[in-house]
Amino acid sequence: MNQEYFNESCLVIASGNSGKIKEFCQLLSHLPLKVLGQPKGFQVEETGKTFRENARLKALAVASKTGNWSLADDSGLSVEALNGLPGIHSARYAKSDEERIHRLLREMENLTDRLALFSSAICVASPNNEILLEVEGKCEGLILKEPRGTKGFGYDPIFEVLGTGLTFAEMEITQKQSLSHRGRAFAMLEPGLKELLK
Ligand code: IMP
Repeated sequence: MNQEYFNESCLVIASGNSGKIKEFCQLLSHLPLKVLGQPKGFQVEETGKTFRENARLKALAVASKTGNWSLADDSGLSVEALNGLPGIHSARYAKSDEERIHRLLREMENLTDRLALFSSAICVASPNNEILLEVEGKCEGLILKEPRGTKGFGYDPIFEVLGTGLTFAEMEITQKQSLSHRGRAFAMLEPGLKELLK
């Protein structure tokens, strides 16, 4: 086991996605925790059929690998008119953020129903194979015909949050956190996380 990871007040973020890690560092910044990234090159096969199952797989695998608590988020974008796709396949839809956006816009070219839902399932696991906390947050929006905004990551430039007129990529990170699937999931997680830290 890598000694750097063996510390009760450390939480390892089970992700290689820099956009996600940045958001969690910000969400966790006021808690008495040292936030670490997962070991370089470590990958967990996402064989689950739901966001929740995949979050569990990632949190358990990284907690066991590092010997510390781990937090995993499995998230994605489900488009109503595409029967929920890309959904749990959001990261694997194409090779880069740009290509994923391009593919989704192409597949929705002739669709007038643009309703979509972002989901984030968060799981915190311990190295003894225990699930400590589990939550799920959602955010409704519309898929635009063209990208707008330069902030954020992933599908942010084409997802306009319902009722705001803004895409996630046009929002400051604090506004995104207050409305997003991940921010909402984290708000549900936070009281439990604080209890664990007592
Ligand atoms: P995961 O790492 O398997 O959970 O993949 C999640 C994928 O969904 C990411 O690679 C992004 O493409 C997309 N995604 C999840 N959350 C967001 C978000 O907040 N904004 C934009 N795209 C996101």
